[in-house]
Amino acid sequence: MNSPPVIAIDGPTASGKGTVASLVAEKLGFHYLDSGALYRLVALGSQKASIDPTNGAELGLLAQKLVISFKNGQILLNSEDVTEVIRTESIGLCASAIAVHPEVRQALVGVQHGFRKAPGLVADGRDMASVIFPDATLKVFLTATADARAERRYKQLIAKGISAKLEDLLRDLQERDARDSSRGAAPLLVADGAKVLETSDLSIDQAVKTVLDWYQAKTA
Ligand code: C5P
Repeated sequence: MNSPPVIAIDGPTASGKGTVASLVAEKLGFHYLDSGALYRLVALGSQKASIDPTNGAELGLLAQKLVISFKNGQILLNSEDVTEVIRTESIGLCASAIAVHPEVRQALVGVQHGFRKAPGLVADGRDMASVIFPDATLKVFLTATADARAERRYKQLIAKGISAKLEDLLRDLQERDARDSSRGAAPLLVADGAKVLETSDLSIDQAVKTVLDWYQAKTA
């Protein structure tokens, strides 16, 4: 039996890939995987358990044991609702630090494969096309300039009533980009066969439409 189709959408921090991926999934009636949330959950779990972010072996064991569930837009860790808690900048930075360890990445492979169900999956992250779903029907590398991404993140935080400084956000996302791109295990890269979508000057609707058009062209 053929595996359900996958659309893999990778890209750097705050590129808008989460928004675009979830809308594409909604339009197609596909399942959606936010793989970054898994690394954020391990980061949160490691802080609760006071595990050193450099201890790959212990973090890998923790990642294997975490009970994670995604239900009606809520994210639960060991049955606690952590949907909002994992979205902070500090958890994002910690996620990028613990994501360098092959033991952590390996522990999350099976969970991610489990999201591949009929009628299909849209998965977003850093290594969806290169490592987790190398046979994806469509591979997209969604990006935007660092300035455009920092500004988007700034507007999102201000809209939520969270105070933020543009220059701090820019520095944090450049730090994360550098670490995500230079690590040995599953670095952020444009996978073989991936189409690059530069969104600095595109609206969300335009980006979603482009991905849907590309998918249609692949499956026509
Ligand atoms: O996408 P998001 O910002 O939520 O991801 C948080 C961190 O998790 C990233 O900075 C990256 O280091 C890590 N990550 C990863 N591989 C993925 C998704 C996220 O290494 N597939």
